[in-house]
Amino acid sequence: MNTILVGAQWGDEGKGKIIDVLTEEADIVVRSQGGNNAGHTVEVGTEKFVLHLIPSGILRAGKKCVIANGVVIDPVALVTEIEGLEKRGIKLAGRLLISETAHLVLPYHRRIDEARELRKGRNKIGTTKRGIGPAYGDKAARTGLRLIDLVQPKTFSTKLKARIEENNAILESLGGEPLSFKEVEKTYLDAAKKLRPFITNTVVWLHAQLEKKKRILFEGAQGTFLDIDFGTYPFVTSSNTTAGGSCTGSGIPPHRMDRVVGVMKAYTTRVGEGPLPTENAEVSDMLHAMGREFGATTGRARRCGWFDAVATRYARMVNGIDELAITNLDGLDTLKQVQICVAYECRGKRLLFPPNDVEELLHCRPIYRKFAGWQKSTMDVRQFKKLPPNAQKYLKALAELTGAKLSIVSVGPQRAQTFDV
Ligand code: IMP
Repeated sequence: MNTILVGAQWGDEGKGKIIDVLTEEADIVVRSQGGNNAGHTVEVGTEKFVLHLIPSGILRAGKKCVIANGVVIDPVALVTEIEGLEKRGIKLAGRLLISETAHLVLPYHRRIDEARELRKGRNKIGTTKRGIGPAYGDKAARTGLRLIDLVQPKTFSTKLKARIEENNAILESLGGEPLSFKEVEKTYLDAAKKLRPFITNTVVWLHAQLEKKKRILFEGAQGTFLDIDFGTYPFVTSSNTTAGGSCTGSGIPPHRMDRVVGVMKAYTTRVGEGPLPTENAEVSDMLHAMGREFGATTGRARRCGWFDAVATRYARMVNGIDELAITNLDGLDTLKQVQICVAYECRGKRLLFPPNDVEELLHCRPIYRKFAGWQKSTMDVRQFKKLPPNAQKYLKALAELTGAKLSIVSVGPQRAQTFDV
C-alpha cells in the first residue's frame, strides 16, 4: 500500500502528527515538494520535534526517509536539522536519502524573497522568507543549481560564480544587499561535506524498494490552497502541494499510488496573506488564548475561522482524497455552538466550489450551518463512539460535506491522542 498524505486546507493541518502515526504501517517516508518553509511538529512522550526538511518518519526507528527531487533544499538548514536530530540520539546514517536532482536554495533566493516582499508592501504574500519562490523560479527558468552540482566542487564553484553575478544585479535592482561569492562558496561546500553520504539517485532507489514490495508514505507539505496551480494564486507557495506533486516530485508513477489521505483541521487556519473566507476574530482569539495556532516555522499567529467545506470539497476533488484525518477537534471543545461553511454566496450566486479569481473570492460570503457544541474535553477520548454525541455529529458532517470517508481523528498533540474511525 503506497499512501499520499496531503493537506486539504491552507497548510498547518497537523500533517506531521498524522504522518508519524501512519508511519507505523510504512517502510519509507518521502518528502516530494516544498522546502524548509514547512514545519511539521511531532510530540513523542515529553519530547517535541519540529521538522522542516527531513520527513517526520525519521522519528520511528528503522524507517527510511527520502528527500526527493521535487524538494528545494537549503543545505545549511538541512545540516542544522541533521545535527539537531543526531544530538537528540536519532540515527540517520543509512536511513536518510537525499535526491541528487533536488534543487538548492541559495542565499540570493532568500534575499530576493525578502526584497520582493518588502517592495510589495501591503500586497505582500507573507512568505516564510526561506527563498522558496525564487528557488523554484530558477528551477523553472533552468538556471537552478542542484545537489548533483554541490557534490562536484569545481562545477559548483564555476556555476555559483555566474549565478551570484546575475543575482547580485537583481538584488541591487530590488534594493537588496549583494552577496560575496567566496563566502557562499565556502559555506555551501562545507555543508556538502556533511550531506555527501546521504545524496543519491533516489528515483532508482525508490523503484528498487517498490520491487521489494516496500510500503511508501508520501508526506505532503503545505496544503491544497497553497498549491501553485490550485491554490489562491498569487497567495500560494511555489510547488504542487496536491497529490500529483508526489509523483512528479519523486519519480513514482501515478498507478503505483494506492490511497490518498487528506488531513484537515476541525476548523480553518491560514498563515500569511490572501483570502480566507471563513476567517473569524472570535475563533482566532479563542484559539490564540488557548496558546494554539502559532506557526511552527516563523512563530506567526495563524488566522483562524470556521470549517470551510467549500474549500475541502474542492480539495477532495483535485487530490482524489479517499480518506480523511481530522485534527484539532479538541480546539473546539469549549464552544456552545460550532459552524460549518457549506456554500459561498458570491455576487448573488450560490457557489459550491471556490472561484479561481482571488478578487472574486474576497467577495464571497460564507453560508453557515450551525451545530450545537459539546462543551466537554475530547482529549482523553480514544474511540469514536466515546466522543460526545454532538462531536460525532459534527465530524460526520465534515466528512459528508467534504465527500470522503472519515478515517482518523486526532484530539491532541500526542501520538496517543489519535484513533481510527
Ligand atoms: P513561501 O512558501 O515561503 O513562499 O510562502 C508562501 C505562502 O505559503 C505564505 O502564505 C506562507 O505563509 C505559506 N506557507 C508556506 N509554507 C507553509 C507551511 O508549511 N504551512 C503553512 N503555510 C505555509
